[in-house]
Order: sequence, then C-alpha cells, then structure tokens
Amino acid sequence: METLRKILEQAEAKGVAIGHFNISDLVTLKAVFEAAWDLKVPVIVGVSEGERQFMGVRQVSAMVKSLREEDDFAIFLNADHTHSLSSAIEAAKAGFDWIVFDVSTLPFEENVRQTRTAVEALKALRPDILVEGEIGDIGSGSEIHDSAPDLKRGLTTPAEARQFVDETKIDTLAPAVGNMHGMLRSMVAGNTQKRLDIERIRAIKAETGIFMTLHGASGTKDSDLQEAIAAGITVVHINTEVRLAWRHGLDNALAKQPTEIVPYKVLPQVVDSVKQVVAGRLKLFNSGRLARPAVP
Ligand code: G3H
Ligand code: ZN
Repeated sequence: METLRKILEQAEAKGVAIGHFNISDLVTLKAVFEAAWDLKVPVIVGVSEGERQFMGVRQVSAMVKSLREEDDFAIFLNADHTHSLSSAIEAAKAGFDWIVFDVSTLPFEENVRQTRTAVEALKALRPDILVEGEIGDIGSGSEIHDSAPDLKRGLTTPAEARQFVDETKIDTLAPAVGNMHGMLRSMVAGNTQKRLDIERIRAIKAETGIFMTLHGASGTKDSDLQEAIAAGITVVHINTEVRLAWRHGLDNALAKQPTEIVPYKVLPQVVDSVKQVVAGRLKLFNSGRLARPAVP
C-alpha cells in the first residue's frame, strides 16, 4: 500500500485530485468506499470532531483500517477540522492518517503559533502523519445556509500563505479562495453555484509549492473545480452534498417502504443515493482534462 503522501504526489503529477468525503455512519462510509472501489481511485474519508464523537474515534479508525487491509485498497482517514491539540493527539493515537488542525478563526500570529506547536507534537508522536493548517475565512458548517457570509476580506494571500507554510512546517494548506462551507438554498435548488478564484490558487501554489486542499467544495461549478485542480489543488473536500444525498435517500426509502422495520432492507437505498453523488465527484476530480503547469 502506498503512503498517503505518495498518493498525493502521484495525484499532483497526474494533474488530478483526491476526493475527500465526510461521513457520519456506516451507510456513508460504505457509499464512499464502494464508489471509490468501483472507479479504482484512492479516496479519503473525513470525520470532523462532531462526526467522530458520534462514530467513536477508535471505532471509525478501525472500520477504515479494516476496509483498507481487507482489499489492500487506498482509503485513508482524516481528522477533519480539529480545533484543539488534545483532540488532534487523540486522533493520531487512534491511527488517523491526516489531521486538519484548524484554528483559523484566531489572529494570524496565534494561528501560526498553535499550528506550529501542533505539527511538532503530532510528528513527534507519528512521524508519518500529515498535518494540514488553515488560513483565511471559509465560513461555518456543512449545512444549508439562508445567506452567504461576506468572505472577501478573509481570502488568503500568496504572501501570508508562504509565511504560514514556512513558519508552521505543515504538510498541506487549506486556503480561502472563494470556497465556503455548506450550500445556500439557491444552490440546493440548482439555481446558483459557488465560484472559485483560480488565479489566487495558482499564485498561492507558485509561492508555496505546497499541497493544497479545497474545503467547502459542495455546490461548486464543475469547470471551476477542474480549473482549481489544474491550478494546484490536490485534495477536494465534499460534505454537504453527501449529507443531502443521505437525507434524500432516506426520505425516499422510507416513503417507498413505510412499514419496513429492518434496517438492512431500507438502508441500501441510502447507500446508493450517496454513492451516486460520490461517484460523480470522483469522476470529475480524476478526469485530469486540464494540464497542471509545472511548479517552480
Ligand atoms: O471539511 C469539509 C468540507 O470542507 C466540506 O465542505 O460541506 O461545503 O462540501 P462542504
Ligand atoms: Zn472543511
């Protein structure tokens, strides 16, 4: 099995991105795994602090590890949006492959200080673990929002990205480049889409050379995602679209079988609903239609 770092290097060389999907239960885990398995592409499963509190930190780690080992399949686990060092260490000890250490709401200097401390502590514990840092403002949760926050002032600049990368020694960077967590009602209805600042992505990549993760990708225009990957994004995070597919799948399954009480007769329809969304996104992220320029 290749390491996660190797998988990222291969994706970058091919000009494709690895899909990262948040899960909350076995249904969504099965859907993500099966979609990636069918397409034979590596995949990352993410659990935020709330998601892993529900599933159990060690329990979700054991489930992902069992899928990886049973078929020698490249499925990895990320401790998404981890807001404290103690929570990051708990995930590292449980065997997570990656930690997104997110104290991006703090002032820049404090974000640098805490992220550097977290990188040092996590690497001392697990030298192989990847640590991501985040700067800028990409809004709040992976939910349906009534209105869009004003994120313009929180966009990441190439200069601050370089300083942050140099001073923290992170492995991957989550920048604010027009992306936003969650979806607006108009996006759910299919009337609007998120747009990305492609030139900013290109400039940050040229300045830092670091692997970059695009958070908040649900509801983003497909061609913007392809251009973002060509400009330097190596991992794309999707959560709200997964949650919407889970909810629609469950509503439809219960409506079709209003008296059914056997979970394993109802839940496969929910797996299928989520799987379709994940497969669509994986195909797009791995299409590699646009060539990525060489990093200086
Ligand atoms: O970390 C998770 C993501 O950034 C998901 O964002 O809910 O907009 O897809 P999303
Ligand atoms: Zn995120």
